[in-house]
Amino acid sequence: MIRFENIKKSFGDRTILKGISFEIREGEIVFILGMSGTGKSVSLKNIVGLLKPDSGKIYIDGEEISSYTEEQMFPIRKKCGMVFQHPALFDSMTVFENIAFGLRRLEQLPEEQVKERVQECLRLVNLGNIGDKRPVEISYGMQKRVSLARTLALNPRILLFDEPTTGLDPVTTNAINDLIQDLSRRLKTTSLVVSHDMHCALDIADRIIVLDQGYILEEGTPEELTKSSVPLVKDFLEEALEAKWGRSLM
Ligand SMILES: Nc1ncnc2c1ncn2[C@@H]1O[C@H](COP(=O)(O)OP(=O)(O)OP(=O)(O)O)[C@@H](O)[C@H]1O
Ligand SMILES: [Mg+2]
Repeated sequence: MIRFENIKKSFGDRTILKGISFEIREGEIVFILGMSGTGKSVSLKNIVGLLKPDSGKIYIDGEEISSYTEEQMFPIRKKCGMVFQHPALFDSMTVFENIAFGLRRLEQLPEEQVKERVQECLRLVNLGNIGDKRPVEISYGMQKRVSLARTLALNPRILLFDEPTTGLDPVTTNAINDLIQDLSRRLKTTSLVVSHDMHCALDIADRIIVLDQGYILEEGTPEELTKSSVPLVKDFLEEALEAKWGRSLM
């Protein structure tokens, strides 16, 4: 479904990705974990063509997209729903208008269907009747859900999450994590989650890829990762354990 083949990416004289290869199969939830600045967001941006690799190949559903033009990328972007780290909602619009915005612009749907779709997406992210509210009137966790609803409205088959739980309190973190799992299963999407939260990854990932210094340091199922002897992976696991205890005390 998504395949990276020896992807390299530099900015000036700094090489961020030094040859990354992985494959994500249809229906999987895969987490990419790594320290800050290891190129996690850069990897996601390569998938939707916001950045191009210097070398290597990226395949989506068997199509090699790394050399695609903007125009050729349109259907790929439609397939891939990106949920950015910050909700980036339009403050001047209501929640309803925020979710309807892309639908009205990209799909020529009659207004009645737009309304139905927005309501459906709000329900999918467990938000009720908040369509009339403005982003400033709802919590940050709710804004993140609205931003997810906005992405879901376009019916993507692949969901790309950039740090979906960073900066959230433990309870909201667990709720968003459960939502990612629930939606992936229910909508049968393939989900790639970029994060540094091993606790979340262990909870819902089918597979975890750990990036470090431009390379893939470790890759495996949560169970395999918990047995890893790689020092950085062990550090992540220790942190996850602390987070788990911290969270269960909340
Ligand atoms: N467009 C760009 N131009 C120049 N440098 C960039 C660009 N995008 C990213 N970088 C650099 O590439 C490195 C990796 O960035 P990236 O955003 O992928 O990190 P990350 O793993 O997502 O980190 P974080 O966990 O903090 O979000 C950083 O040093 C960043 O400054
Ligand atoms: Mg990032």
